[in-house]
Amino acid sequence: MAAAAMPGDSHLAVAAAATSGGQSPGRVRAGLGPAGRVRGLTRAVRRQNAPMDAQAYESEALAAIEGAVTAEQLDEVRVRYLGRKSELKQALRGVRDRDSGMALNATRERLEAAVDSKDAEISAGELERALAQEAIDVTLPGEERRLGTLHPATLTRRVAEDAFLGLGYEIVDDREVETVHYNFDQLAFPPAHPTRSPRDTFFLDDERLLRTETSPSQIHTMEAKPPPIYMVSLGRVYRRDEITPTRFPIFHQFEGLAVDRHITLADLKGTLLHVMRALYGEERQVRFRTHYFPFTEPSIEPDVSCPICAGEGCRTCKHTGWIEMGGAGMVDPQVFVNVGLDPEEWTGFAFGCGIERAAQLRHGIPEIRPFWENDLRFLRQF
Ligand code: DAH
Repeated sequence: MAAAAMPGDSHLAVAAAATSGGQSPGRVRAGLGPAGRVRGLTRAVRRQNAPMDAQAYESEALAAIEGAVTAEQLDEVRVRYLGRKSELKQALRGVRDRDSGMALNATRERLEAAVDSKDAEISAGELERALAQEAIDVTLPGEERRLGTLHPATLTRRVAEDAFLGLGYEIVDDREVETVHYNFDQLAFPPAHPTRSPRDTFFLDDERLLRTETSPSQIHTMEAKPPPIYMVSLGRVYRRDEITPTRFPIFHQFEGLAVDRHITLADLKGTLLHVMRALYGEERQVRFRTHYFPFTEPSIEPDVSCPICAGEGCRTCKHTGWIEMGGAGMVDPQVFVNVGLDPEEWTGFAFGCGIERAAQLRHGIPEIRPFWENDLRFLRQF
């Protein structure tokens, strides 16, 4: 055996001699006589499938490595020449002396290095091919993805919320299914009030209904915690109205309530002025007209100076220069009694305004219907 041969290793020498004669291990074993007698040798021969001419082995392996084109082919070659059952590994396992061990290990290392560098070469080639094949043409126009926009009622609702948060108000999200008790009785609606009728209100059964206003939130809040209270509740309300340009059976309101000591109408006016200016601009003025609501005394209707004509008079304000914004007033003593608060001790004001109406004024939308029609040509404008 040449360079990497193992002088003195009788096992390998025998194996080499035996196999170089073209004999299969089985025949070698047969030729050596009964297996029992030369056990060690037999095992060595079986492991040593081929002659271990390390130099020939190495150049054959190097050629195979060099010839591999794909990662799979390279892996096959690696298994064949460096795998657990490869001739080299078997020879290494059978090594008995230092020199031949070192020589075989050097062969192994050179082959491993060759496999590694071929592997790197193949990977680099595959990456290059993938890059070339899967390249994205960044000059092509992309698919347009339209961003959604917030609904105009939501936009206005948020402006109002911000204004109230700035005043230190708490925002309350309340139920839309109410009871006669909270929607009417606790708010001191007289027994014969027309909105108690199923002609005006959506009843679910005798007791339950879709709230007709956000005012029941006042009651829930006062029952839930003691004053001082500064809260605003925003959400949907339902009324059995025909759909017309100005009416829709579902709409949104915001409802405010302040309960504290020594609250006056002037506090209500200052609060509404702040919110109206947030909604319609710093130039706005607010005026009060007397009115009636079951749960406030006195009751008023607040007007805001027309944001369209700045009070000059136009079609929107019907040439009055003022636009009605909702209802308000000082909390009726009966309401305080209903929730267990002493009307001698506590004072408060409340107000309610329609959100679509506010959005119509802010954006110059002439009708309420488009708020509920889901027409993207309308909704995309905000
Ligand atoms: N809830 C009334 C409505 O829907 C508006 C309203 C009036 C709310 C007076 C109030 C208030 O809080 O005090 O028409």
